Amino acid sequence: MTENSLNENQGIEAVSWNRKHLLDIDDFSTSEFDLVMKTADVMKDVLSRPIKKVPALRGKTIGTLFYEPSTRTRSSFELAAKNLSADVVNLAASSSSIAKGENLIDTVHTLEAVGVDVLIMRHPIAGASHLAARYAKSSIINAGDGAHAHPTQALLDMYTILKHKPCIQGLKIVILGDSRHSRVARSNIWGFTAMGASVTLCGPRSLLPVGLTGQHAVYSNIKLETDISLALDGADVVMALRMQKERQSAGLIPDIREYVAQFRLTSERLAAARPDVVVMHPGPVNEDIEISSEVASGPHSVINEQVSNGLAVRMAVLYLITGGNKE
Ligand code: NCD
Repeated sequence: MTENSLNENQGIEAVSWNRKHLLDIDDFSTSEFDLVMKTADVMKDVLSRPIKKVPALRGKTIGTLFYEPSTRTRSSFELAAKNLSADVVNLAASSSSIAKGENLIDTVHTLEAVGVDVLIMRHPIAGASHLAARYAKSSIINAGDGAHAHPTQALLDMYTILKHKPCIQGLKIVILGDSRHSRVARSNIWGFTAMGASVTLCGPRSLLPVGLTGQHAVYSNIKLETDISLALDGADVVMALRMQKERQSAGLIPDIREYVAQFRLTSERLAAARPDVVVMHPGPVNEDIEISSEVASGPHSVINEQVSNGLAVRMAVLYLITGGNKE
């Protein structure tokens, strides 16, 4: 193996990756999850080298099309593409030009006309990337569509947990906060439950999803809990979500101070979890709102690891989607 290549023997198995797009992980098989995790390990190895660059995507062009603000996701994808030697074109759509169906498709076709092979897309409307994928010749990666899905965040969260726990099966994972409006929660619920974890969603009733449990539930192995001490009891993983301030103006929480008093993840509350509990947050963090600064920077927190693992996982996804493991 040369320093600037991927090592064939590092464990990327011949499990096939047959997806042109990555829109959600709701239909992922466990072997697909495993393949992404193993490929991300190879990418993590690349990232530990003095020269963090391999030629796997040389000659490919990756586009980012973001209709919403983003720091970590967009820069993470851009760096991931550059580490794989792809060319990158960034298009930030201003919020005033939020596209309706046709405009979005036109934009996708324009980017394809300048040679984009993979388009990474974030859009405030649920289903936007599915719509784009229907008309695209390029591969579409969903980097967040409304409150619907954020597949690479869920993959990097799974990867980060697996750096601390032997497997996802049997874990008690608590998602704390506004899971009703969270695309991170929605994608993570699919991944965690598919891999055999039980998921407890905790928060005020108005911020918990409807229709997830009960007879017609889409998901299985999910509990809703409004009492934080019951939710955290024996937890292996606690993921706090950003408290979106706009929820208060929408009347879904009476007062942010009341939320903080009842649901902020503090050291005292965390004591109910397992001693080896892992604390996560997808970012951006509102410190001392949904999580105390002490817990966010404390010994259980893997928040920074999530960001650095995000790079390896996005490299893995770009590599797989462009057919890297088929050569
Ligand atoms: C999340 C997002 O945008 O969906 N952030 C991220 O991608 N890291 C979560 C959020 O905005 O609260």
